[in-house]
Amino acid sequence: TTLNADSKERTYIMLKPDAVNRRLIGEILSRFEKRGYNVVGLKVLTPSRELAEAHYAEHKERPFFKGLVDFLTSGPVVAIVIEGDNAVATARTMIGVTKPQASAPGTIRGDLSIDVGRNIIHGSDSVESARREIGLWFRPVEIVDFKPVDHAWV
Ligand code: PPS
Repeated sequence: TTLNADSKERTYIMLKPDAVNRRLIGEILSRFEKRGYNVVGLKVLTPSRELAEAHYAEHKERPFFKGLVDFLTSGPVVAIVIEGDNAVATARTMIGVTKPQASAPGTIRGDLSIDVGRNIIHGSDSVESARREIGLWFRPVEIVDFKPVDHAWV
């Protein structure tokens, strides 16, 4: 496996409480792995209100803000750092658009969800957002320096 160092990116992906509750962790993670991305950070946690509000800080004036924070803190989420070529934009394409009903079949939301308030997954919208969100959800020691190696046994 070769990875172009110039285009290697990290993005923050989060499986929301509905995805965990519906036991979709494996299904969703496998899509990123099969596409060719490496999981370099991964943990399950129930976010505090403070963390959820910080994550969605740019939306704090929006009418859906409180509901969104209530939802995110309602149970465990899976916080994930995905690494690979053009990870931020490609993950967003794989996820689909905000409204599940407008998301094309083949996308994660288009295949697995139907309700905007329960859209199962978050992905950073830019490289800058990814850096901020990864810093919010992970300590540096929780992210590995992953170097793909071709082993005879893989
Ligand atoms: S916008 O207008 O483009 O800034 O909004 P958008 O990025 O699409 O949405 C921001 C996040 O809020 C979530 N969202 C909602 N949650 C609950 N209810 C409603 N009505 C709603 N509308 C938007 C949306 O999923 C985005 O969160 P993430 O986690 O990034 O998907």
